[in-house]
Amino acid sequence: KRVVVLISGSGSNLQAFIEAEKAGNLHAKIVGVISNKSGVFGLERAAKANIPTRVIEHGNFDSREAFDEALAKTIESFSPNLVILAGFMRILSAGFVQKFNGKLLNIHPSLLPKYTGLHTHRRALENKDTFHGTSVHFVTEELDGGPVIGQARLKLDLNDSESEVMAKVQQLEHKLYPEVASWFLTERLSMESEGIYFDNEKL
Ligand code: GRF
Repeated sequence: KRVVVLISGSGSNLQAFIEAEKAGNLHAKIVGVISNKSGVFGLERAAKANIPTRVIEHGNFDSREAFDEALAKTIESFSPNLVILAGFMRILSAGFVQKFNGKLLNIHPSLLPKYTGLHTHRRALENKDTFHGTSVHFVTEELDGGPVIGQARLKLDLNDSESEVMAKVQQLEHKLYPEVASWFLTERLSMESEGIYFDNEKL
């Protein structure tokens, strides 16, 4: 199976996928990494692992649709079975999501449906939540709204700073995300029009 990873930044989740592939736990090959920003550390991580990289800068396109079209073409050139959004900070158009329907996973740093959008760690601290964490979900047209497949949670320490919380949540992400992806890649998990299937059972 073939995986393409989309990034915009540091790529620590990408690194977790690279390690999972090396350990034989991903059951797939990462065949390409695409960033919408040049010069980000995630691209260096990919190059170091000998994974082909592409940069598609959204600033070079007149509209979201034009950017998404170029992005879709580049993804398709890698013929992936699964597209992983790993800190990819662009909202994708409906047309794009439809094109890759059922093949797109995202990780969002909150216990969805709580805190869609940005600044999730700050909001969890401000609300003095007991638990906080991260969610892997299939991507649908609704922002951070697709069906949740897996979550990892921690007890929130209200003395922690926003960045301390982020670091703890990211550690959970690095375990959770490749694991959930491996369920898809070993055909245990799928999103059909009727719903989510796991081990042949509808959830
Ligand atoms: C992750 O925390 C993810 O949940 C969020 O952006 C962050 C990406 O970090 N969407 P990295 O680029 O994988 O290090």
